Amino acid sequence: MRAIKLAILGATGAVGREMLRLLEEYRIPVAELRLLSGPNSAGKTILFQEIEQRVQEATDDCFLGLDYVLGASDAPVSRRFVPAIRRSGAVFIDNSSAFRMDPEVPLIVPEINGSDARDHHGVIANPNCSTIITLMAVAGIDRISPIRSMVVSTYQAVSGAGIRGQQELEQELAAYLQGRPPQPEVFPVPIAMNLIPWIGAEAENSYTDEEMKMQNEGRRILHRPELTVNCTCVRVPVMRSHSISVTLWTKDVVTLSEANAALAQFPGCHLMTEKARSWPTPLDTGGQDLVWIGRLREDRTHPNGLSLWCCGDQVRKGAAANALQILQRLENGL
Ligand SMILES: NC(=O)c1ccc[n+]([C@@H]2O[C@H](COP(=O)([O-])OP(=O)(O)OC[C@H]3O[C@@H](n4cnc5c(N)ncnc54)[C@H](OP(=O)(O)O)[C@@H]3O)[C@@H](O)[C@H]2O)c1
Repeated sequence: MRAIKLAILGATGAVGREMLRLLEEYRIPVAELRLLSGPNSAGKTILFQEIEQRVQEATDDCFLGLDYVLGASDAPVSRRFVPAIRRSGAVFIDNSSAFRMDPEVPLIVPEINGSDARDHHGVIANPNCSTIITLMAVAGIDRISPIRSMVVSTYQAVSGAGIRGQQELEQELAAYLQGRPPQPEVFPVPIAMNLIPWIGAEAENSYTDEEMKMQNEGRRILHRPELTVNCTCVRVPVMRSHSISVTLWTKDVVTLSEANAALAQFPGCHLMTEKARSWPTPLDTGGQDLVWIGRLREDRTHPNGLSLWCCGDQVRKGAAANALQILQRLENGL
């Protein structure tokens, strides 16, 4: 792979910092790296390849001459800078929700629809983290028979709300231990010793925008425009890795042994079938790219149904790793 020139837009956040770690771990040759942030972190330094690199505030002229911009900030920031990134000629691989439903922008999970990235017009979107982990766990079944519907419950780690989400759980746990009342700021109520069955803003019919992403993004990634998903997203006091319970219904019956075989060989997945423990936990999956799947079983309510449980590190495969895998595919030919 050629040595590339890239910027991370949001380099000081949870996803941006993970991207930096993965650039080293994946041994991606970097000719030039620009670390961009908002005004809060401008001037800070971050260690990369054993050298302190200075963070600069993102401005329109800081994309010139780059091959790639990796987006690790929120949607308004991505929208604000996309015209300048397009003008610079760099390819923008964005983690925010800004362009995920734009028909001109491919929405990519490389193991599932990597070849869709061919049709990019300078911008490629990374899907929502729970959507990536869930679809990785079910795509093998969808290839046997199209998935028609899913009922999904997510158990989402606090780091899904960024570095401040992680800090809030740490501070609340410390407050409890010291007998002080927690002071929630990131989440609407305390998350320590609790769980919160509401993530995002109300979207439609009492579902949140976070919940609707599973269906709307899933339709694009799987190429199943008729897919329906009934999703409940729950924030849990777990530091890292999302867990998801899925029941799905396929067009034709998929037997348990067919599903087992498909999931066991699906790239990027680890299917647990051991009798002693056939279910992953968030702690099993932190710090790696694999999506772990377990508890694969028949649905007791419908002959075309299957149920499973999966866990994956949402900062890695749900964000930073998926984006870098897209970059590697573009560089190595799709
Ligand atoms: N966390 C996850 O698990 C996860 C998973 C999938 C997708 N995502 C998505 O990835 C994106 C980043 O999430 P995160 O969790 O890493 O958030 P985060 O920890 O809150 O980090 C946000 C980053 O954006 C930067 N920023 C703020 N204002 C900016 C501006 N005006 N110009 C340039 N940069 C600016 C921040 O810089 P300062 O340090 O200066 O504030 C920081 O580096 C979000 O769109 C999120 O939805 C996150």
